[in-house]
Amino acid sequence: MSCDGKPPIWAIEPHTKMKHFIQREYLGAWLAKLGQSHPRIVFVDGFAGPGIYEDGEPGSPIVALTTARDHQADLSSCEIVMGFFERCPDRAHSLQRQLEEQHVPEHIKVAVVEGTFEDQFGGEVLAEVEEKGQRLAPSFVMIDPFGWTGFPMSLVERIAAHPRSEVLVTFMYQHMNRFWENPEQAENFDELYGTTAWRGIVNEPTPEAKRDKAIEIYRDRLVEAGFVYTYPFEMRDDGNRVLFYLIHATKHLDGLAAMKDAMWRADPGREFRFSDYEASRSEGQLALFGGGFDPADLERLLVGQFGGAGWVDVNTDVREYVLLRTRYRDGHIRRETLGRMQREGRITEDDVRRPPDRNRAFWGPGTLVRILS
Ligand SMILES: C[S@@+](CC[C@H](N)C(=O)[O-])C[C@H]1O[C@@H](n2cnc3c(N)ncnc32)[C@H](O)[C@@H]1O
Repeated sequence: MSCDGKPPIWAIEPHTKMKHFIQREYLGAWLAKLGQSHPRIVFVDGFAGPGIYEDGEPGSPIVALTTARDHQADLSSCEIVMGFFERCPDRAHSLQRQLEEQHVPEHIKVAVVEGTFEDQFGGEVLAEVEEKGQRLAPSFVMIDPFGWTGFPMSLVERIAAHPRSEVLVTFMYQHMNRFWENPEQAENFDELYGTTAWRGIVNEPTPEAKRDKAIEIYRDRLVEAGFVYTYPFEMRDDGNRVLFYLIHATKHLDGLAAMKDAMWRADPGREFRFSDYEASRSEGQLALFGGGFDPADLERLLVGQFGGAGWVDVNTDVREYVLLRTRYRDGHIRRETLGRMQREGRITEDDVRRPPDRNRAFWGPGTLVRILS
């Protein structure tokens, strides 16, 4: 048994595969963007695990390494630093062995750190950067615990203090939900949230309202911590009950756009959720429910939000609204919806202002649009 009394390695579950799918998709985009524009970028896996599952499937550190190593873009001029933090010694050793079996090119530096995320990353790595008054290189920090301790909001705030940092948190809702009224957990929840506001969750009238409140308070706290955009992906278990949320927090709209793309690929067109139950009913295939992009629906939402509001900027106002407040993604906005409205006469030439020398197919930076109500 490992240091937490659980087996050192366990069987992978469908929702874990989905989590890795989202990790891989997002990381691919993140690496392409930042790895080609910065000399150094950092990937942190704060709760790294043993690097392998029972039937040989890769753990999140190997997913990260192979995504960076096998990337189609040339990232060789960027130093990609990967820090894997793991509390249980046997799992840390297992991860080390898994990494030794991988080819690691010169420009990627991997390190397994035995110890807790809070002590080793917060107390050592980040503390040193802070003491020297330096800034972290652009950093993607994955926080993927079994429970809800070990990543207090005070530490998340310190990560958010750096300009190009972002986090992906596994928010273990189902387990937490049993403990709101347990006095022994009150301090842990205070630390997790960095506020006592969570104590109001139990007063919500329905289980759904409780769940929404628990997520809303956490997302609000991430924004107060310094992130600008947060987005959740819901994972359900084989009984179709909410198990956890993957919550992404970033300061950049491009980061949110890339995460929406990853989530959309994970669950095309639905509500950003994945259920082990639904996966088992679809003959074991991962994801891929029906649904999809509905331009008429997005148009209706845009008319509701911006109709009659005068000129709005396509790439800031409209983009931010669509990415943050609707299920749709970046690629749905311009040609697919605004262009369709234009082609069908609901946006006329008088309703669009483009930068000079741009034709009517252009919806890029500097384009303003007026949507009728
Ligand atoms: C959910 S598992 C990680 C799975 C892994 N991220 C993956 O997707 O393959 C959580 C891991 O965090 C480790 N852990 C628990 N508390 C920790 C802490 N405070 N700091 C670092 N690691 C911790 C556990 O030993 C366990 O291996």
